[in-house]
Amino acid sequence: MKIMGVLGSPRVGGNSAILLEEALAGAKDAGAKVEKIILSQKKISGCLDCTKCNEMGICAIKDDMQEIQKKILESDAIIHSVPVYFWAMTSQMKAYLDRWCVFFDGQWQLHKAYAPKMKKKRIGLITVCGDPDVSIANPIIHSFKTTCDFAGLPWLGGVQASAATKGEIANNKEIKKEAYNLGKKGATIS
Ligand SMILES: Cc1cc2nc3c(=O)[nH]c(=O)nc-3n(C[C@H](O)[C@H](O)[C@H](O)COP(=O)(O)O)c2cc1C
Repeated sequence: MKIMGVLGSPRVGGNSAILLEEALAGAKDAGAKVEKIILSQKKISGCLDCTKCNEMGICAIKDDMQEIQKKILESDAIIHSVPVYFWAMTSQMKAYLDRWCVFFDGQWQLHKAYAPKMKKKRIGLITVCGDPDVSIANPIIHSFKTTCDFAGLPWLGGVQASAATKGEIANNKEIKKEAYNLGKKGATIS
């Protein structure tokens, strides 16, 4: 069982990073091999909608997404963690998600080259916002969950946290437990 954590915050050691570590600890305790990708340390351009990937399932843009795409395919579950930036996900996470285009064909079906591996992939999401009302992250949850529903990927669930200053979330035992349980769920076949 392989679980990948994808960090969408550029603030390494920040709140999303702390919760992602909790999720990966949960996955590890459940016996999974875990790996983390920090998107801000990767070079990932936005999708160009050139449709080149539709035929062969190979993206025309040559950057770090090729390596990440391989890791996505090898993972049984992927837990994403991202802060809210202006009521949306960070640009790093959006660029990454848009490049998921490579997994689809011209009819927006999972590409035949990837469908067998993709359709079993379990997807989870952690959001952090400075606002005490965590529901402001609902559009990000909607974006990921709808993508999963659309592609037929199992949705593990979302954890929505509130914290503003760097590392503040470390004091919130309840939400850390939620993130831990999300990771554990990702590593457990139901
Ligand atoms: C550019 C930017 C935009 C932000 N926009 C929002 C926002 O729209 N709503 C909100 O509640 N918090 C907003 N925040 C606050 C972050 O979501 C908050 O500080 C969060 O804890 C950061 O998580 P991190 O430590 O994982 O980076 C913003 C922060 C930055 C830097």
